[in-house]
Amino acid sequence: ASTLGAQAAQSGRYFGTAVAAGRLGDGTYTGILDREFNSVTPENEMKWDTTERSRGSFNFGPGDQIVNRAAAHGQRMRGHTLVWHSQLPSWVSSIRDANTLRSVMNNHITQVMNHYKGRIYAWDVVNEAFADGGSGQQRSSVFRDVLGTGFIEEAFRTARSADPAAKLCYNDYSIENWSDAKTQGVYRMVRDFKSRGVPIDCVGFQSHFGTGGPPSSFQTTLSNFAALGVDVQITELDIAQASSAAYANTVRACMNVARCTGITVWGIRDSDSWRSGENPLLFDRSGNKKAAYQSTLTALGGA
Ligand code: G3I
Repeated sequence: ASTLGAQAAQSGRYFGTAVAAGRLGDGTYTGILDREFNSVTPENEMKWDTTERSRGSFNFGPGDQIVNRAAAHGQRMRGHTLVWHSQLPSWVSSIRDANTLRSVMNNHITQVMNHYKGRIYAWDVVNEAFADGGSGQQRSSVFRDVLGTGFIEEAFRTARSADPAAKLCYNDYSIENWSDAKTQGVYRMVRDFKSRGVPIDCVGFQSHFGTGGPPSSFQTTLSNFAALGVDVQITELDIAQASSAAYANTVRACMNVARCTGITVWGIRDSDSWRSGENPLLFDRSGNKKAAYQSTLTALGGA
């Protein structure tokens, strides 16, 4: 096939991108979006500071814009994200009472998932809950500090009741290198969840890589998580300077793991990227395919 999405589909996978509602009026942007991608993740529009900026008052406008457009173009949706310490309104981060925070968290998950019920393929239920560095433990956040480490289990159980058809993912960065303490911490959590029947269906590896691309253990990491009985997905891929080899190595790691169900890049053109100074994406500022586009298509099995 001659596009990323169509080529990924030949092996039953998707190839997606982050989308920003504010760019949907740009015809170059939407032209590439609809030609190349068959999955969409809202870059910011489903985060707590947009969806529930004040308690109990929900705003689904920007998210709906992206979801409705994706549906009209036959693109699947990843929901991003329900419980995250960042882009979290201060009315939430200042709660100190556990019963209050528990009901606020569960209500947020339930309301947002109910609104999008039936339209989301996979939800990033909890995002970036583990600490960087050598601890292998959860990071400090209002959720962990007030509710305890069990907040992640609580969030996944609530999510399963809200939309039993959506795949429920844990999503994080710097968990691609197998030997890292952070990777091991997330692995132990997923193993524990599977052994106790806590509902979890997938793990998202954000994959914000430096110039060298993925660590050499990346495929091992993907297959070890998959062996626990979850799907794995590359959820926010970008690579400093976007070398062809680094993109190809990343895509091959996923292609070599049966339960690696899809890849999402974190933006379309370099100018759309949160790290635009590093030119980390597959299309240049004018929307032309970069060399890494071809190596990605080839690694997906295309010509
Ligand atoms: O909402 C305001 C808007 O009102 C204002 O006009 C504009 C002016 O700059 O700022 C807007 O907020 C920005 C928002 O993006 C929307 O553009 C924030 O300042 C900016 O911090 C925010 O950055 C996002 C970042 O998450 C925040 O943490 C990036 O776009 C987004 O790509 C990035 O995505 C995250 C994933 O969600 C999780 N993993 C890491 C990844 C990269 O940081």
